[in-house]
Amino acid sequence: MTGDGTRAVRAGLPVAEAYQPPVPPPVFAAHFHLPGDPSVAPYGYGRESNPTWVALQDAVAELESPDERAEALVFPSGMAAISATLLSLVGSGDSVVLPADGYQIWPKLRRRAEERGIVCHTAPTGGDGQLTALRAAWDRGERVRLLWLETPSNPGLDVCDIAGLAREARARGTLVAVDNTLATPLGQRPLELGADLSVASGTKALNGHGDVLLGYVACRDPELVEEIRQWRTVLGAIPGPMEAWLAHRGLATLQLRVARQAENALAVAHALAARPEVSGLRHPGLPEDRDHALAARQMHSFGCVVSFTLPDRAHAERFLAALRLVDDATSFGGVRSTAERRGRWGGDAVPEGFVRLSLGIEDPEDLVADVRRALADAAG
Ligand SMILES: Cc1ncc(COP(=O)(O)O)c(C=O)c1O
Repeated sequence: MTGDGTRAVRAGLPVAEAYQPPVPPPVFAAHFHLPGDPSVAPYGYGRESNPTWVALQDAVAELESPDERAEALVFPSGMAAISATLLSLVGSGDSVVLPADGYQIWPKLRRRAEERGIVCHTAPTGGDGQLTALRAAWDRGERVRLLWLETPSNPGLDVCDIAGLAREARARGTLVAVDNTLATPLGQRPLELGADLSVASGTKALNGHGDVLLGYVACRDPELVEEIRQWRTVLGAIPGPMEAWLAHRGLATLQLRVARQAENALAVAHALAARPEVSGLRHPGLPEDRDHALAARQMHSFGCVVSFTLPDRAHAERFLAALRLVDDATSFGGVRSTAERRGRWGGDAVPEGFVRLSLGIEDPEDLVADVRRALADAAG
């Protein structure tokens, strides 16, 4: 198997052909020339498929599952991928176990699922909450169709044991989906750990430039893929060709970005650990993090996010205002560092002084100096 950098630079691209461009252009067509029998045609109508998506889907599948071919489907956002996966695979009367502390839109999606007769339970990512929730649902005789994990969780950065949970779930016929947004397929490969589906927002580190929204699901089971593909075709949540093309172009630098961002995150986490006003510091790469041992077993790289809490809201706001190299912005995973006081949204169970910091690809010394200076200013 080739290394991550080699795979990322070529993934999904055609082999070199004389006098052809090395990268296929974006395809904007709604319909294709379609003489004769449409059932044998690879492309007919743009909502079903097009060569630009297929190239990106092949690339994502290769990165998520380098040894055993998976298939991937791309969506116009992470939420489109998540909702298509959940709602196409789970039906009325089925149960699901969802993250209690995942991306803050989950409660709204849960309501949509419940309106459709799906029985929803939630469990925290850390500790053994998911296993407890699963066993309780099995013991009640529920048909638990899907366990949804988000690890590391956003924004709390708790980690759960994908392989252990997938083993338990598989034995009872429960599917496992993992939100792999934060880790990226270079940082964690849920399918190799036994999950059935790896789902992500490509808006974050996968694209990494803060200029595209995208989502995907990768899966090794063709029947599940077909269900989700049909859902996409019927509901029509499809990415534009330019977005797919841009995301594919960005993949060439994914390994460099992921490695540099993880290096920066660890350096800044160490600097934060030395400050008395910082509490609740979390980063899975920190040796003293409570989930570090588990993260080291299942992750290849620990991601670009560090979370921590300053004494109160005003202190956090002073810190964010004092940063010069870190933009006050939501989202994470981009080449430019960003941070925000997460409590401003009101959707996460976090203290008022809680900060989520996403490290970009700037020089580590500059970022550490900027964070140290902003902390001193905010404390002063
Ligand atoms: C972990 C996680 N999953 C999914 C999403 C949704 O992605 P998108 O904004 O691309 O719909 C987000 C967005 O922040 C996220 O953080």
